[in-house]
Amino acid sequence: MDINWFPGHMAKAQRMIVKDIHLVDVIVELLDARIPASSSNPMISDMIQSKPKVIALNKSDMAETEITQKWLKFYRQQGQLVVAFDAISGRGIKDLVNQIEVAARPKIQAAQAKGIKNRPIRVMILGIPNVGKSSLINRLKGSATVRTADKPGVTRGKQWIKIGKNLELLDTPGVLWPKLDSAEVAFKLAVTGAINDDVYDVEKVVLTLLTLLRDNYHERLTVRYGLESPIPEDSEELLKKIALKRGCLRAGGIIDSEKTIRIVLSDFRLGKLGRFSLDIPEQDSLV
Ligand code: G4P
Repeated sequence: MDINWFPGHMAKAQRMIVKDIHLVDVIVELLDARIPASSSNPMISDMIQSKPKVIALNKSDMAETEITQKWLKFYRQQGQLVVAFDAISGRGIKDLVNQIEVAARPKIQAAQAKGIKNRPIRVMILGIPNVGKSSLINRLKGSATVRTADKPGVTRGKQWIKIGKNLELLDTPGVLWPKLDSAEVAFKLAVTGAINDDVYDVEKVVLTLLTLLRDNYHERLTVRYGLESPIPEDSEELLKKIALKRGCLRAGGIIDSEKTIRIVLSDFRLGKLGRFSLDIPEQDSLV
């Protein structure tokens, strides 16, 4: 799949993140629970180095619960701090705050050993576009009691949100660029909305989605669109069938493929075709 992507943007994003990382003690790496592997950026470890990190699987309301459980086990077996949550309902947010506190504990203890009490622990959220960074910040803001002011000279221009007793969250998240290193990863990022619809071929993505649905989620497809079995092997034929069922026709009875493509994509993204986990943990035997 061809994607237009601009290296200049990546370099700028990286510079901004590296600059902000100096201000914080803990990083929250926000991933999409439907595609934890595809929504991660392998360069994050270079950028954050030894800084404590919590992996946060957002949109878990849209992922298959058993597979999310496998991912949690997978990351824990690697010694990582990880939580699954959903920034819209807020389910699991408390766990996230707890895990941030766990990640920050050594720093707090070191500060206490030096006689420094109430040193705030600063946190920053990192993630690719659309993974839910703003939703999470807004949700945490909702329960925040104090909004701390900037510290002149050190954090000029930065807003911090106080969460819990001792944590302060940087109001501006770091935007990571998605990795587009294979057609499969690019498909998963596109279909979940992580990359802008105008930089890839939406039709190709939806035809691939239809193949995936036909092969693995046959019943969801037939139920959602009222299709009779057998459904066509060919995805373009399948798209036409959906168009007819949905009445997506132009004047003269011509099939409106564009409209049908939008319907299928939006149904997928709104969860109307069910929950999906498009990545499964690599070492499945371990989990
Ligand atoms: P970002 O800052 O990382 O770019 O992401 P943002 O919070 O803007 O969230 C992107 C979209 O994902 C939003 O949808 C948001 O409502 C949705 N979203 C965020 N967290 C969750 C979650 O845990 N569960 C579900 N189901 N959805 C979540 P949107 O407002 O419709 O925006 P868009 O899709 O039109 O971009």
